[in-house]
Amino acid sequence: MNKGEMLYEGKAKKVYATEDPDLLIVSYKDDATAFNGLKKGTIAGKGVINNKMSNALMRLLEKKGVPTHYVEEINDRETIVKKVQIVPLEVIIRNIAAGSFAKHYGVTEGTPLKAPTIEFSYKNDDLGDPLINEYHVIALDLATQEEIDTIKTYAFRVNEELRKFWLTCGVTLVDFKVEFGRLSDGTIVLADEISPDTCRLWDSKTGDKLDKDRFRRDLGGVEEAYQEIMSRLEQHIG
Ligand code: TMP
Ligand code: ASP
Repeated sequence: MNKGEMLYEGKAKKVYATEDPDLLIVSYKDDATAFNGLKKGTIAGKGVINNKMSNALMRLLEKKGVPTHYVEEINDRETIVKKVQIVPLEVIIRNIAAGSFAKHYGVTEGTPLKAPTIEFSYKNDDLGDPLINEYHVIALDLATQEEIDTIKTYAFRVNEELRKFWLTCGVTLVDFKVEFGRLSDGTIVLADEISPDTCRLWDSKTGDKLDKDRFRRDLGGVEEAYQEIMSRLEQHIG
């Protein structure tokens, strides 16, 4: 399958057309941004790691009954995915208080939550991805109630499966962001990526951060953390 016209260049990925109108090729970059693009940098090797990790996790999730856009990895940085219309929501699940949740609600980072939470942000860079609730989603015609229900079911299933998987790697899944899309027949599938860019992953013993917070917060050892989390995954994925 060959790359056609570049359709879109985002902060961390490029998307290309293919000869099949239902398939796209995603190409992962080493570019990293934070705070809605305010902070910019590169993380050497990130594109390869995010591509391989996201694909491995999506294959695992497919086996566990979560449909995804994943089709085939074609090389270290590039993957064939099903073309979807992205539902413009960032779906965030949390197991432990961190980041914006810790700040908004005055909870010490690292405090376990009584139950996992879900929240939605409206994917809109000009507005800074504001938090919205289900009523807003319907009022703004971003998704139907049925789609929201499907998305919530899948998002919590993703949490349960990824939490279990990362635990086998000695890693605690603190929180993560996922996105969903609609296939041409309207079927909702998991899309975008699941990687250290989009998850908080802490070493279960030491609490060391093995994710993009090292870049966001200038903690150093960014490349090493991406390599470490990838090697844990490679040792434990089936
Ligand atoms: P937050 O605590 O900053 O709201 O982040 C929650 C989770 O979402 C965390 O795992 C990082 C991820 N995330 C993204 O993937 N993209 C984003 O733009 C932001 C702000 C967070
Ligand atoms: N990727 C996001 C941005 O640049 C933010 C983040 O992941 O923290 O805006």
